[in-house]
Amino acid sequence: KLAAAIIALTAAISAVMLPIRWTGEAASAEADKIDTLLDVTIVISAFVFSLVVVLLIYALWKFRVKPGDESDGPPIHGNTRLEVIWTVLPALLILGLCTYSYIVLEDIEKAPAAAQELRIGVHGEQFAWTFTYPEEVTGGEELTTTELVLPVDRSVRFSITTADVIHDFWVPDFAMKLDAVPGLTTHYRVTPTRLGTYPVVCAELCGLGHSVMRSRVRVVEQAEFERWLAEQSTPAVEEGAGPDEQVAAGKQIFASEGCGGCHTLADAGSGGQIGPNLDDVLKGVDEAKIREDIVDPDAQIAAGYGAGIMPSTYGQTLSDSELDALVAYLKEATK
Ligand code: CUA
Repeated sequence: KLAAAIIALTAAISAVMLPIRWTGEAASAEADKIDTLLDVTIVISAFVFSLVVVLLIYALWKFRVKPGDESDGPPIHGNTRLEVIWTVLPALLILGLCTYSYIVLEDIEKAPAAAQELRIGVHGEQFAWTFTYPEEVTGGEELTTTELVLPVDRSVRFSITTADVIHDFWVPDFAMKLDAVPGLTTHYRVTPTRLGTYPVVCAELCGLGHSVMRSRVRVVEQAEFERWLAEQSTPAVEEGAGPDEQVAAGKQIFASEGCGGCHTLADAGSGGQIGPNLDDVLKGVDEAKIREDIVDPDAQIAAGYGAGIMPSTYGQTLSDSELDALVAYLKEATK
């Protein structure tokens, strides 16, 4: 009967825990293997928990004090055989789980057979992610973006760095995360297996803007990936664009760079609260000052806001013409 109770409790716990999608969409080959490891661990843990709880409740009930019994119970000495058993069994269990985890880790870190692996740089900075596609990927100049785009079913090796403090590059749906550590380059590889858009999250408390240090990864077909790469290398703003076209391009850049996540701007319909309200602080400000606020945000900070919260990298990640367009748009929108 005790055995039946233990098995029933194990089954009940497993029935609740196993259907939970711990790794989100499980959108990578790695996530599938990690899911299996998790499931095995959950069932074993549920069994150990059930064993302890059922035996504990049984002992409490079976050996409870009878009314009128004032004795201390029989004197108990050690039981060597029992102690050996309850030391050896858990040790074997832990060794077994360690071995299995190690095999899974080895497996997901293994380099793919074909050398057709994408290499992408991931750079953390308070409080934004940027991604670098090297020349071998773009076929032209190195490309830096704020959105990660990956082709489906192709292994990617990320090289993760940081400009300041420790961040953590986490894609929950890929089931992979790793710290970005000052002075080090860390790596992990992933093979996205599902088309879609997934959040990129910073998983290490890194300062005031930690909670907004988010980006996204778009997993697309190879052809779409190539089209996107080609698009990125052509300027978003045509050479010699008129003022209206510049303002329109600037509005798009405001949206695609995620500026509205931190800033309120009525024209863009954004309501971010992390940084100053642009409708207020940019009103009547000239273009040179707006440009400085974007490129060197800590040069002069709006009252009530701290230094180092807005990324200082826009001067590098935006091209000159993009910057011109963004400035033109902000000037126009806050007139
Ligand atoms: Cu970067 Cu938290």
